[in-house]
Amino acid sequence: MSATQIQPNADRHGSGFTRLVTVESAAGGADGFPSSISPERGRRLCEELERGCILLFLRTPFAFTPEDREFLLTQKQTSAGYHKNIAYRPAEDRLTGLDKSLAAEAGRFRSILRNYSDSAARFITALLSPYANRFRQDLASYRPLEERGRASRLHARNDLLHVDAFPTRPTNGDRILRVFTNLNPTRNRVWLTSETFDVLAPRLARAAGLPRPRSNRAAARTLRAVLRALHWPGATRSPYDDFMHRFHNSLKEDREFQLNCAKHRWEFPPDSTWIVYTDMVSHAAIEGQFAMEQTFLVSRSAMVLPEKSPIAILETLCGYPVSNPA
Ligand SMILES: [Fe+2]
Repeated sequence: MSATQIQPNADRHGSGFTRLVTVESAAGGADGFPSSISPERGRRLCEELERGCILLFLRTPFAFTPEDREFLLTQKQTSAGYHKNIAYRPAEDRLTGLDKSLAAEAGRFRSILRNYSDSAARFITALLSPYANRFRQDLASYRPLEERGRASRLHARNDLLHVDAFPTRPTNGDRILRVFTNLNPTRNRVWLTSETFDVLAPRLARAAGLPRPRSNRAAARTLRAVLRALHWPGATRSPYDDFMHRFHNSLKEDREFQLNCAKHRWEFPPDSTWIVYTDMVSHAAIEGQFAMEQTFLVSRSAMVLPEKSPIAILETLCGYPVSNPA
């Protein structure tokens, strides 16, 4: 499917729904990166993302050698034990989720994922200037499994609409920005989206259980500081993080929402890359195999439309702060 087939759908979708914004090729720099993006254009692209749009690049800006593509596409066929996403932790230069049968290939996987992760960070810096030096480079992943019909426990299902929240990596209100690349040479990767968080939350957040106000009493503050100093599990999780995890789960559990909400279907062609705030855009991956992904945690303070952030929407609903103090 071409962008010209996708794009007209976007015009039908009013505020509160995700639109697809096809970014014209601005190639010129290394790896097909934009050679010069003006600060004004970077700011406009940030605004589109923060309104809940998906930025689509019909040709990925990231370089993969033919040998690396071949390697990634054929591993599944040579190992019956190839079950999970393969994750890469940039801060530790370490892989997780690699099947034991592929241990001999760990170096090759790590090298490919490291390149993708670093390229994506450079790309975001060049493209989205308001976010430069304002993000953390979180995990990258390679997703070799077919999404259609993939068996998972309910809260782990990718084919149910949800907004993202990481139970083990709290953001305290910082944003989850994700970069995806469809490496499948012949098939689209297919998503559904529904309304964005600013529309969903006023309707559905109370059912998930709004965050309670944090106690500001001295004893409570001291206890939190001690637990953080002890690296107690969950001690750094804010009321915002707890809520977003509950909301993620409650959307997947909500059969009425899953069946009857308005949905839009997006098809990402082979070799395309797209960027989206997945903590705001309700999304489900329903078809596709062989994708790369890099997650960035963008500082809440870097937003050009801070009032659109999930934490701002939630604090308006609650009437009190839901983040942890700095
Ligand atoms: Fe997701």
